[in-house]
Amino acid sequence: FTPSQLEEFRPEYHFTPAKGWMNDPNGMFFLDGEYHLFYQYYPDSTVWGPMHWGHAISTDLVNWEELPIAIYPDSLGYIFSGSAVYDQGNTSGLGTTDNPPIVAIYTYHNMEGERSGASDYQSQGIAFSTDKGRTWVKYEGNPVLPNQGIRDFRDPKVSEIAQADGTKQWVMTLAAQDRIQFFASTDLKNWGLLSEFGQGIGAHGGVWECPDLIPFTAPNGDQKWVLLVSINPGGPQKGSATQYFIGSFENGTFTPDDTMIRWLDYGPDNYAGVTWSNLPKSDPRTLFIGWMSNWLYAQVVPTQSWRSAMTIARELSLIDINGVLLLKSAPVKELEKLRGEKIDVDLSSGLPSQAVEIVATLDGSDSFSLTLTNELGESLGINKEMGLVSIDRSKAGRSTFHPDFAAMHSAPMSWKAKDLRIFLDASSVEVFVNNGELVLTSLLFQSSPWKKLSFNQGIEKGSIFNLKK
Ligand code: FRU
Repeated sequence: FTPSQLEEFRPEYHFTPAKGWMNDPNGMFFLDGEYHLFYQYYPDSTVWGPMHWGHAISTDLVNWEELPIAIYPDSLGYIFSGSAVYDQGNTSGLGTTDNPPIVAIYTYHNMEGERSGASDYQSQGIAFSTDKGRTWVKYEGNPVLPNQGIRDFRDPKVSEIAQADGTKQWVMTLAAQDRIQFFASTDLKNWGLLSEFGQGIGAHGGVWECPDLIPFTAPNGDQKWVLLVSINPGGPQKGSATQYFIGSFENGTFTPDDTMIRWLDYGPDNYAGVTWSNLPKSDPRTLFIGWMSNWLYAQVVPTQSWRSAMTIARELSLIDINGVLLLKSAPVKELEKLRGEKIDVDLSSGLPSQAVEIVATLDGSDSFSLTLTNELGESLGINKEMGLVSIDRSKAGRSTFHPDFAAMHSAPMSWKAKDLRIFLDASSVEVFVNNGELVLTSLLFQSSPWKKLSFNQGIEKGSIFNLKK
């Protein structure tokens, strides 16, 4: 491969590892001005393999610096997905009172165990860092949560939650095949089962993975808990996707408010996303990032030296749409810093680069259509018609690597679309309707650069911001 082929489709402002394979975001935490992002990583190939935790940091959620690999596989297994917490009170005893540890909680995946047909090949282990996440030491008593007889037993997301009596405990939200199990601990080392959730409710077209339990205040002031559950396969666009439940979490039990199935992102390419821990009190946002791919074709997309990018970082909040609570995913405000040259668009315009944000105000008719085209006659369509918002990538470039890639993906939107923010990068598009009341994220592999943006219908005015750094 020539250098340019090796870098073809490398995003400008989305995180990608310099080389090798990446999947889920892991262990995100904030400390001392740095947002940490770890991820499922295999440095020696561009397909999935022995999993490590790769590591990157950012001070603004937009510019990422890749650091050395944080956690390596060992005799207990590959290092699968998980989370990290700042153990400020040194409850684990793994740091000191003066220098409390960051504790990572991850899944051990024992390949030999899996091959031999055992059912107990996934367990939970911990590692700690006392130097701001730069180096990690595994706890000698691993695993801290041995398998309990369920084959799929993984992706611990830990957070500190206050109990009814005011004391705090660590709560682990864990995916166990077709359900979520909640465990509690006071020292991050000894865990006891609290409760289970999920059988007979929600989407079950595949295994449950990568959960997250997050507190929110609803628009009316009510306290709610949102449970994110990724599922593969069984998503609304085939393959992987993330569903969520809204309810209460009391006395260690999650109780959903209703049985509605909700999807975080209706595009095909946002999976296994979770939220940052330990954000400062001065910035009480809920920040999320997802893996911008789909297990259907993640390992065969046409990139050469690396595979997979993360989505842009998003701020999650609860919104009320005609009496129904939904999760909104808005692009983080830091992305506005990237805005360079601005081009006002009337009906059509050339593009200044492949890395742009398109902003459009709709004309009130509640249907719209816009298209990107290139010199080879390829096109990407984004529209709303008869209550469905769609991205049509069926003619948007390379797709022969997988039969399901060339497709149109639609999402129901019963309420009015007022404006659009569309983040285009070298091999992706993220469409935020009404600043994220509805989101679709999609990969794209155009055979030549997008050249022209056309507003076909329903758009009052629009602009393109060049985001090329
Ligand atoms: C989700 C997932 C997780 C697992 C990891 C392995 O994409 O399957 O459940 O921990 O990837 O890389």
